[in-house]
Amino acid sequence: MKLSSSQLAQCLACLACVAPASAVLADSLADQGKALFGTHCAACHNADASGIAGVAPPLAGALRERLATPAGQAYLANVLTHGLAGPIQSQGQSFNGVMPSFATLPDESLAAVLSWLALSNGAPAQAVGADALARARAERKTPGAVRKLREAGQ
Ligand code: HEC
Repeated sequence: MKLSSSQLAQCLACLACVAPASAVLADSLADQGKALFGTHCAACHNADASGIAGVAPPLAGALRERLATPAGQAYLANVLTHGLAGPIQSQGQSFNGVMPSFATLPDESLAAVLSWLALSNGAPAQAVGADALARARAERKTPGAVRKLREAGQ
């Protein structure tokens, strides 16, 4: 097929638009996660993930150790796909609530939320990827069983 010069110009304009857009998409994983956090998590954990005393634990600055180990990363993926219930201690505060499962959100969205949380803990943005969420999802744990994962130091 032969392109007229105006078709060619349109084609180039289109490519010019698409190429940077995909780069921006990759970079904005954490931004996307921040927006999702605002919609799905902030009501309990606060918009800046600092937690709400007596309601839900802090996440910003509180998950460093867990984000640094494969077992901790698997624990976080399990919290999002299966929820968490029962007494826990975080940053010297006690909580005994129920965190609902977010299994209705796709792995990519949950990974984006964890990416933003990782950055707010000084960890690499990709600490918990969509593959870790898919593995956790396949395990079908109860919220109580996820708390045992936490207790096991994982
Ligand atoms: C309805 C309130 C509520 C919502 C909404 C909620 N959480 Fe939670 N979350 C909790 C509670 C309560 C706990 C602690 C549960 C317990 O006491 O065992 C918790 C615990 C956690 C933990 C474990 C922290 C730790 O120290 O082990 C993570 C991680 C977490 N939430 C992330 C999220 C993310 C991400 C979202 C949004 C996708 C979210 N939560 C939405 C209430 C909520």
